[in-house]
Amino acid sequence: MKNKLKSFFTEQWKYMAVSTACKLNLFDNLQEEKTAKQLATKLSLNEEKLLLLLNALHNVDFLDKNADFFKINSLSEFLTENNPESLKYACLNWSSEHLNAWQNLDFSIKTGKSSFEEIYGLPFFDYLNENPEKLHAYHKAMFAYAKDDYKTLPDLIDFSKYKSVIDIGGSYGAVLEIIKAKNPTVECILFDLEKVVEKVTIPNIKKTSGSFFNKIQIQSEAIILSRVLHDWNNEKASIVLRNCFEALPSYGTLYVIENCKDKIKIDLSLLSLNMTAMCESYERTSFQYISLCVNVGFQFYSETQLNELQTILTFRK
Ligand SMILES: C[S@@+](CC[C@H](N)C(=O)[O-])C[C@H]1O[C@@H](n2cnc3c(N)ncnc32)[C@H](O)[C@@H]1O
Repeated sequence: MKNKLKSFFTEQWKYMAVSTACKLNLFDNLQEEKTAKQLATKLSLNEEKLLLLLNALHNVDFLDKNADFFKINSLSEFLTENNPESLKYACLNWSSEHLNAWQNLDFSIKTGKSSFEEIYGLPFFDYLNENPEKLHAYHKAMFAYAKDDYKTLPDLIDFSKYKSVIDIGGSYGAVLEIIKAKNPTVECILFDLEKVVEKVTIPNIKKTSGSFFNKIQIQSEAIILSRVLHDWNNEKASIVLRNCFEALPSYGTLYVIENCKDKIKIDLSLLSLNMTAMCESYERTSFQYISLCVNVGFQFYSETQLNELQTILTFRK
């Protein structure tokens, strides 16, 4: 029992070794086998210390080892930049700022405020907006998650009945790319902050920028709000919802896609702590989301399970 406890204290070292490997592009450079010396020379790293890291990565099953040669395996190939299903930026997303916010979780528990904001002096999305590299890395991570998470969305919702659909807070457009592939005649409109939208490369979608805390200038019959509300406390989430309500015509449809605690088997209590530390927010139940939406005037229409985490809640104006 005590040994289990002692190894639990240092569990995060495994993730730290893997995320450091991503940061140093080790997996990208081990698609063909190399010795520590060859890799250290190529990447200008300290050979002796690099060997420590490579051996640790081998021990946690992220590298194959043959004599002195190391090579990526079926797990770490997903942590290379050019893999079409790469999770490299998803892996990196949980290091640096996220870890610093967790280090100061006690601040959030004492005050109810975001420990991220206490450390960095800005709310998370404002901080990203001021750090172009961090912003790009964050949205690459969101894109990687979204490509997996939303792939069945157009099978569950018939978007062909709409002339246009807006994805509000749509990041780099993964959701719209998936919808457009199945519904080529639907006009797909991405709405996000200006510095995000200017980096979007998805073809055949319309891009528009602004803040969802202000009036949304563009109209459409359907709005998607996926993984947006969970970033905000009730007061801020209600402002976003009110602006979505105003942007819809009568009988317009709102799709809220979120992890609803009551709809899934996976426990979200740690993710809730992460949201608290990062954004002063938390993971809600479907009833809490429905109540937020109904309070700004929406009528709840239906719910559909998207995957093992996310539920689609449909509302009408
Ligand atoms: C957690 S991400 C979700 C991205 C995407 N919808 C998904 O499900 O993967 C939250 C999104 O909200 C956007 N966002 C944050 N603040 C915003 C604001 N004030 N106005 C518009 N978009 C904003 C972020 O840029 C980001 O794309």
